[in-house]
Amino acid sequence: MNKHFTSSIAFVLFAVLTASPSLRAGGIVPLGSLDLSKIKQGWGAPKIDKSVMDGPLTIGGKTFACGVGTHAESRLYIKLDGGSSRFTAKIGVDDNRKDFPASVEFRVYADGRMLYKSGPMKPGDEAKAVDVDLRGAKNMLLFVGSAGNGVDHDHADWADAQFTVAGAKPQAVAPPAEVLILTPQPSPQPRINSPAVYGCRPGNPFIYRIPTSGKRPMTFAADNLPAGLNLDAKNGIITGVNPPRGEYVVTFRAANDLGSCEKKFKIVSGDRLALTPPMGWNDWYGYFDGVTDRLMREAADKLVESGLADAGYQYVGIDDCWMNAPADSQHVKDPLRRGPLRDADGNIMPNKHFPDMKALTDYIHAHGLKAAIYTSPGPMTCAGYGGSYQHEERDARQFADWGFDLLKYDWCHYSKIAKSETDLDELKKPYILMGNILKKQKRDIVFNICQYGMGNVWEWGAEVGGHSWRTSGDLIHEPERFIDIAIKNAAIAKYNGPGGWNDPDFFLHMGIKEEPGLFTPNEQYTLVSLWSLLAVPLVYGDGLHKIDDFLLSVLCNSEVIEIDQDPLGKCARTVLLGEEAVLFVKDMEDGSKAVGLCNRGEMEIEIAAKWSDLGLAGKQRVRDLWRQKDLGEFSDSFTAKVGRHGTFLIRLWPVK
Ligand code: GLA
Repeated sequence: MNKHFTSSIAFVLFAVLTASPSLRAGGIVPLGSLDLSKIKQGWGAPKIDKSVMDGPLTIGGKTFACGVGTHAESRLYIKLDGGSSRFTAKIGVDDNRKDFPASVEFRVYADGRMLYKSGPMKPGDEAKAVDVDLRGAKNMLLFVGSAGNGVDHDHADWADAQFTVAGAKPQAVAPPAEVLILTPQPSPQPRINSPAVYGCRPGNPFIYRIPTSGKRPMTFAADNLPAGLNLDAKNGIITGVNPPRGEYVVTFRAANDLGSCEKKFKIVSGDRLALTPPMGWNDWYGYFDGVTDRLMREAADKLVESGLADAGYQYVGIDDCWMNAPADSQHVKDPLRRGPLRDADGNIMPNKHFPDMKALTDYIHAHGLKAAIYTSPGPMTCAGYGGSYQHEERDARQFADWGFDLLKYDWCHYSKIAKSETDLDELKKPYILMGNILKKQKRDIVFNICQYGMGNVWEWGAEVGGHSWRTSGDLIHEPERFIDIAIKNAAIAKYNGPGGWNDPDFFLHMGIKEEPGLFTPNEQYTLVSLWSLLAVPLVYGDGLHKIDDFLLSVLCNSEVIEIDQDPLGKCARTVLLGEEAVLFVKDMEDGSKAVGLCNRGEMEIEIAAKWSDLGLAGKQRVRDLWRQKDLGEFSDSFTAKVGRHGTFLIRLWPVK
């Protein structure tokens, strides 16, 4: 056939197809003909008839002429309007990832129901055939997620992907907008947001700002304050010396021109710290190796100005990169961050961005807040700065003298010292050493163990002196797994409690000011709901310039924080309801339960929390915690619609 003849046929066909409504209504529409710019994916851009790397589409040794190459997590929402009857494709990991640990799962949803799930697929697996019935469906989602090991290398192909169309053509559309829950602003009347209990060690310095929301000016009072403690009535900051061993029940009172309130606060002076999960801010995800003394001071200011401190956020934490990197460091570019690691006496040297550490903690303490610092048991920190190996005693004393109240102790280069990363004694060794040293300091220093969960650290973190221990890697590397991470933390609930907390890492990338963030609004509500239900540290770990009203409403909801800070310190257990719905159920000290109805799925679903699943019987009063609204009394279950990756958070009290 000559070229001219073929193109004439094509023209005639085109003319017939576009002219005749009956013919136009039927036919095949390749996935690649849709507007693929609507695909949201974890890496790169979607490719028509090619892999995400621009090579041919090949799965399990077979090459496909057409289709779409994408990368997990990948989502394409499609409007069908009842026009398509069928979707077919051959799917799999592209062969260009043959020697990599890729692992993906393909799913097809229509009108909220999952119609197809591939199960985990690896490079080299033969393509699987998808064939789903779409008759009557209004909308659809093509989804590729990681199958459990993060999204790295997850090159996914929808080969030969096409719709059989009998009516309206399928149309790629933007992801459905998520409804922002309008959490009420904190009331201008005073509300004291401190936890009910606080641990300290006799004779050490006491510093505590009574976290209180409401209009300023406000006046504070405290009844039965033990001797040695002084309250500044204007700002609610208590300073002094921790009282002798014993329990002291203090009543805090706060008043402004709109009202007054009071709250009991039990000071337990003894051996234990962190009787409720630590709350605060840390610079790492916001500033990485750009952290400076000035930024830390601004953070202290901002915590107070924004209302975060009034909600209970207390620790102002410096992460890595405050000390010197070796003078000849190839990889630390900033000359002000390079230099001798120690002075002539062996003292650790802060870099030039931190001219006076004592003055910095004084500044933080003057706000009534606490200061946190970071080092590694290894010779170097993760970012290649000087660590504490063989200087543990001296460094701990230095941190105490400077005035730090929390130490994050990050394994990293200790891997070069440890004989093994599986041997329990080797894993415990540096933490036993530092744990014992910290207990001897004349300062209450909360000990945050950071080694990403090795050797089931939760089983022995408390025994080596830890007050919290990271249970997983850095959230920034696996944000798409955050609900799975929460479920895993719930499985180790029994190791969580007053004085020793699981730590699934800091909050990051929140708010809606900077798009696209790592977490959608629904996911941000879920993040804070689940972390609170798990009773784990609440630390906002990102740039304070990113704070917007939405972020504040998510981080500062006092009724949600109350769940996290409950003195019982119970971690939620989970009830898995099929593939997508999961309940997180937490017992509260007052006999109520906090429950998260969480949707791990990709489309809105209805979730029922049945009393039988929650361990409840009889009528319950139900309150919606994000909207701070009573929902009424329910006899045997509570049901709510929950959007993609969202959580409906409720608290239930038995009706007497
Ligand atoms: C590790 C930790 C992070 C952070 C960095 C600093 O990755 O897990 O939380 O402290 O090191 O380099």
